[in-house]
Amino acid sequence: MIPVMRPWLGNEEAEAAAEAVASGWIAQGPRVREFEEAFAAAIGAPHAVAVSSCTAALHLALIAVGIGPGDEVVVPSLSFIATANAVRHVGARPVFADVDLATQNLTPETVQPHLTGQTRAVILVDQAGVPADLDAMRALCDPLQVTVIEDAACAAGSVYRTRPAGAGAALAAFSFHPRKLLTTGEGGMLTTPDRSIAVRLRRLREHGMDISAADRHRSQQPVIEHYTEVGFNFRMTDIQAAIGLVQLRKLPEMVARRRALAQRYQKMLSGIPDLQTAADPPYGETNYQSFWVLLPEAFPVRRDDLMRLFADAGISVRRGIMAAHLEPAYAETEARLPVTERLTKHSLILPLFHDMTLSQQEQVVSVVTSAALRPTMRVSVP
Ligand SMILES: Cc1ncc(COP(=O)(O)O)c(C=O)c1O
Repeated sequence: MIPVMRPWLGNEEAEAAAEAVASGWIAQGPRVREFEEAFAAAIGAPHAVAVSSCTAALHLALIAVGIGPGDEVVVPSLSFIATANAVRHVGARPVFADVDLATQNLTPETVQPHLTGQTRAVILVDQAGVPADLDAMRALCDPLQVTVIEDAACAAGSVYRTRPAGAGAALAAFSFHPRKLLTTGEGGMLTTPDRSIAVRLRRLREHGMDISAADRHRSQQPVIEHYTEVGFNFRMTDIQAAIGLVQLRKLPEMVARRRALAQRYQKMLSGIPDLQTAADPPYGETNYQSFWVLLPEAFPVRRDDLMRLFADAGISVRRGIMAAHLEPAYAETEARLPVTERLTKHSLILPLFHDMTLSQQEQVVSVVTSAALRPTMRVSVP
C-alpha cells in the first residue's frame, strides 16, 4: 500500500522522547520552552507559545483578539473544519467566503463582500501549505480594525515574500499533527510579535494561572498561584516538545524533499490537458504539505471513481480539501461558493512523503494517466 503521507520520524526522535521520560519531567516544562524558542527563531517571530493542537491555537488566538458572541469572523469554507469550529468555540459566527482557484486561499476580492459592522477578524488559511497573500489581506482589513489571524496549520516551512509563512501575522497558528511536515503526534504553536499577547496566551493555555507549574516546581519557596481569568488545559507535553525539537531541525530537508517530489509529479502529469496541480503562488513558496490535483471538467472519470481506482491499485489518496458549509454541522449556512464547491468536488490529494520513490510516483501517475486515456479525452504523454 502506498500511503498518502508518512511522517519522517527516526531513532533521533525516539531517543529524544526517551530522554524526556528519563528526566522525570514529562508535562509542559523545559523542553516545551526550548521548542518555543527554537520555533520562534526558525519562523522569525518574536514569540512562540506551544499548545496541544492548532485547533486550540486558533481558539486562543480568537480570545486574544477579544472575539465572542455577536462577532463575525470571515473564514474559508474550504478548510479543515477546525478553522470554522474555532470561531464557534468562542461563540462568534463564522462567515464563509470563497477562495481563489489557483491558491485555494481567501483573497481581498473574496472577503470584501462579507465584511459587515460585526466583522472582527478574518482567518486567513495557508491552504495545503500554499501561503496566502497576507499583505493584501491586511491592506483591506487593517483600516477597518479587522484582525487577520493566519491559520498556518499546514505551512511550517513555506515562504511568504522571502520570510517564513506566519512571521508577518499578528497571530499565526501552526499544527503538528502527523499529516503535517513537522509532527509531534498532536500539537500546535502560536506565534506573535506582541509580548503582552504571548504572556496572556501562556496563561490561557494553563488554566489562567499566573505562574506555570514548571516555574512553581523550580521555586525554593512555596508559591501560591492565582487564576487571573478562566483558562484552558491546552498544554503540550515535554515528550512532544522533545520530538518537535528534532523535527524542527529536519524541517528544511523535509521541505526541500517535498518540493523536489512535487516538481517531479508536475512534470510527470504535464501531459494531461488542463489538469491543475498545487503550485507556488507568485509571491512565495509552498512546502507542499498536500499535493492536490484538480480534474478538468472534461476528465472522463469522476473524482470519486478515480479514488476507487486508486484504492484498487493499493494507493491511498484523499479527497481534496473539505468544504465546511456542505457539512451537516453547518447546515444552516446559506453560502454560495462556486470555486470552493468546484475544488472540493473535483480535486484529490496524491501521496507525498519524504522517502517516496520514483517507482511509487510512477505508480500513482499511471492511475491518473490511464484514467485520462479513456476515449473521451486526448492525452499527449511527455
Ligand atoms: C487549515 C487547518 N486548520 C486547522 C487544523 C487543525 O489542526 P489540529 O489537528 O492540530 O488541531 C488543520 C488540520 O488539519 C488544518 O488543516
